Amino acid sequence: MRLILLGAPGSGKGTQAALLQEKLNIPHISTGDIFRSNIKSGTELGKLAKCYIDKGMLVPDSVTIDLVKDRLRQPDCNNGFIMDGFPRTIPQAEYLENALKEMGMHVDAALNIDVPDEVIISRISGRRICPACGMSYNVVSNPPRTEGICDSCGGRVVHRDDDKEETVVNRLKVYHEQTEPLIKFYEARGKLKTVDGQGSVEESSKRVFKVLGIE
Ligand code: AP5
Ligand code: MG
Repeated sequence: MRLILLGAPGSGKGTQAALLQEKLNIPHISTGDIFRSNIKSGTELGKLAKCYIDKGMLVPDSVTIDLVKDRLRQPDCNNGFIMDGFPRTIPQAEYLENALKEMGMHVDAALNIDVPDEVIISRISGRRICPACGMSYNVVSNPPRTEGICDSCGGRVVHRDDDKEETVVNRLKVYHEQTEPLIKFYEARGKLKTVDGQGSVEESSKRVFKVLGIE
């Protein structure tokens, strides 16, 4: 399956992608995670991305598209992928459509995880992530089994630098202006599926699996 996850920051894309990856055994590609791992290891890409991410702005399309182009060439993408956080602009969506067409492929579904802005702000304030493997937790709704320690890899979980409230407000504004139009883009192509992302992680996951026909 070639799946795209749409949804505001904090809607649960990363959380659902991890569950989908386990279920479908296809790679979870998060452009945000790739940028964060480059920031951590101090690469040129990381330095550039950090200037934008810390302000809650999008990294320029040319940079992000080159990164995804390389990632899609990896052999683990041959049987499908879960794209989390890409595309995020119309030019990125057009690039992906054309790149897949050239490979004789297409997106099977664009899944929009729908969560109101008020819920987003409170979720993000409680989020903790594992910088080593990218797993996402929440101190209130989805804590790790041992406080402060990642269930998946044993790393120490931390607060994300761009999760400060003023940055989150800007990320939401950018989402509404630049990414929300993708809902219509995929609807026009008959690929859009929308799920309510409120309630618990398990409830959202049940809806996601159902709408994708993979219960
Ligand atoms: P990115 O890392 O993609 O961030 P984002 O889109 O802002 O999304 P988040 O990761 O914040 O949220 P999520 O939807 O994954 O939610 P999560 O599952 O963690 O991008 C970061 C930055 O990189 C961007 O701002 C941009 O600068 C740059 N970038 C990335 N891609 C780009 C692109 N294509 N083009 C240009 N720039 C790009 O859940 C959130 C919290 O809620 C967690 O604490 C979780 O435990 C909790 N939670 C999840 N589901 C539930 C539930 N059902 N009930 C209760 N709590 C829940
Ligand atoms: Mg995420």
